[in-house]
Amino acid sequence: MNYRHAFHAGNFADVLKHVVLVETLGRLMAKESPLLYLDTHAGRGTYPLDDIAMQRGGEFRTGILPVLAAARPPAALCRYLELVRQTGAVDGVLRSYPGSPQIAQAMLRADDRAACCELAPLEADALRELMRGDRRIAVHERDGYEALGALVPPAEKRGLVLIDPPYEDPLEFDRLAKTLMAAHRRWPTGVYATWYPITRGGGAERYLALMRTSGLRRLLAVELMLRRADSPVGLNGAGMLLINPPFRLDEALGEAVDWLAATLGDGNGRGRVEVLVGE
Ligand SMILES: C[S@@+](CC[C@H](N)C(=O)[O-])C[C@H]1O[C@@H](n2cnc3c(N)ncnc32)[C@H](O)[C@@H]1O
Repeated sequence: MNYRHAFHAGNFADVLKHVVLVETLGRLMAKESPLLYLDTHAGRGTYPLDDIAMQRGGEFRTGILPVLAAARPPAALCRYLELVRQTGAVDGVLRSYPGSPQIAQAMLRADDRAACCELAPLEADALRELMRGDRRIAVHERDGYEALGALVPPAEKRGLVLIDPPYEDPLEFDRLAKTLMAAHRRWPTGVYATWYPITRGGGAERYLALMRTSGLRRLLAVELMLRRADSPVGLNGAGMLLINPPFRLDEALGEAVDWLAATLGDGNGRGRVEVLVGE
């Protein structure tokens, strides 16, 4: 396991993922009853911009920084941008970029809970330290796929599962799909959001086709392409596949991904929000 998210934190793919996270969690919180946020691949929770890996990767420079600097972002980005500033800016200057657990922490209400799983010991240590003293949040140093099987359905009966693996393993899409279907059998009413990379020949289409024919209902795909999907560059785009998305999430996110594609793309960028399977 060599993956270190610090090389990539704050890139366009993180922006997409975290916009979807904030909008989804926010909409679930429209109801008063408490919920569980389960982050299967949580990372270290915060990424200081002056960290050597952050500086070397530098992907935040073409991700969150131009998004923060752009004029008049659409409404669906405002809460996300507010949380990025709240967690990481000092005197108006971004010093660190928040990971998914820190974003969720900033949103959780008093009776909500979060379970954050991270397999890499150093990342888990850093996350534990960051979350120390917050009794709503449990950090588990364990395999997130296995934890998902053990932790759902939650006592709250409501909540969001974020699955954000590193895709270093060529079989990651298969493991993801299998785990997702098993979790859905245990907890069919949970909301699931899974991140996936879009590279030339990388398997994203196969994953979506598999999920489309899986028998699961209420599937939504949200994608941000920065360039053409067949470009050999590397990460051409990123997507989120949601199961049981909250009401009207698709409408809110459509405008957001179009704007992000125009702001960050190379001219061939595009946003896509598609209901893969309906009710
Ligand atoms: C893409 S990063 C997570 C970023 C985080 N979700 C965020 O948005 O800030 C993936 C993380 O998963 C961890 N990881 C890899 N395999 C894992 C597994 N089987 N279970 C839990 N964590 C894992 C890696 O160490 C890495 O920190």
